[in-house]
Amino acid sequence: MKTIGVIGAGQMGAGIAQVAAQAGYRVLLSDVGIEQAEKGKAGIAKRLARAAEKEQISAADADAAGARIAPQGNYDAFGEAEIVIEAATEREQIKRAIFTDVGKVMSPDAILASNTSSIPITRLAQVAPDAARFMGVHFFNPVPVMKPIELIRGLATSNDTVARVEAFAQSLGKTVVHANDAPGFIVNRVLLPMLNEAIFALGEGVASVRDIDAAVSLGLNHPMGPLTLADFIGLDTCLEIARVLHEGTGDPKFRPAPLLVKYVDAGWLGRKTGRGFYDYSGPEPVPTR
Ligand code: CAA
Repeated sequence: MKTIGVIGAGQMGAGIAQVAAQAGYRVLLSDVGIEQAEKGKAGIAKRLARAAEKEQISAADADAAGARIAPQGNYDAFGEAEIVIEAATEREQIKRAIFTDVGKVMSPDAILASNTSSIPITRLAQVAPDAARFMGVHFFNPVPVMKPIELIRGLATSNDTVARVEAFAQSLGKTVVHANDAPGFIVNRVLLPMLNEAIFALGEGVASVRDIDAAVSLGLNHPMGPLTLADFIGLDTCLEIARVLHEGTGDPKFRPAPLLVKYVDAGWLGRKTGRGFYDYSGPEPVPTR
């Protein structure tokens, strides 16, 4: 059985661990401590059980996939992984520290990949154990449902690394798209200006949270309105991506909406903190403006 490592057991890391375990990989799932890694695994077990209840997978397959996930509180076992995917917080300093630490134990032919939404791959490659075996592998949330994976090669990424990661992504049943190492790659380059503009419109009093979301989701036939989607992604992540686009291109059209900055300053980060553009403390989300 092939082993992969996933660093970060939050919504993205847990989703990646789940799809990899369902595809038959043994998954080492780490976080800042064993408790957080165990919590990530418990969430995956719940989602697998729900899929079994809905008869999308058998109970035996759900149990087997869960059993393939081994929570880790450190990187001691990561030398066994052929591919290590980092899905930690979207902050460059955090990712750099992780690469330095995990790089010390990785096998000499293993690949390190980052699920960064927008940080330049070529820059992150400086702290990878080998820039030729480093690339971006960008999943979408919720990982078990969303089809595409953006593969991003840095300046020094080898063809062999791209081919191995592409084969891995296909083995998960995903659709691979290739992007160059430009700020936001493809999806976030297109998505973030829309989410940011919806927040500008809210801040300028153009319409309420409910009306902006209803207008865009119904008017454009999107599954979620932009403010719901921003809460779903996490407002801190949205702000980080907006800043990377702004700084990376120097183009003022990407400047973050002041209201987005305020919400992040307030600690209102969306669903994960129970409040963003909606309040999630009750049975149904309630718009806050
Ligand atoms: N984890 C796993 N599965 C989930 C899930 C989650 N968090 N949330 C929903 N699902 C699954 C459900 O189990 C259900 O599966 P089945 O049909 O197989 O039973 C399916 O998704 C549909 O769910 P629901 O019927 O409960 O709800 P829905 O029809 O409203 O769909 C949604 C929910 C799939 C999240 C949908 O609203 C959607 O597609 N939203 C847009 C998501 C999106 O745009 N994602 C990209 C974000 S950008 C990004 O990720 C990149 C970045 O870098 C920021």
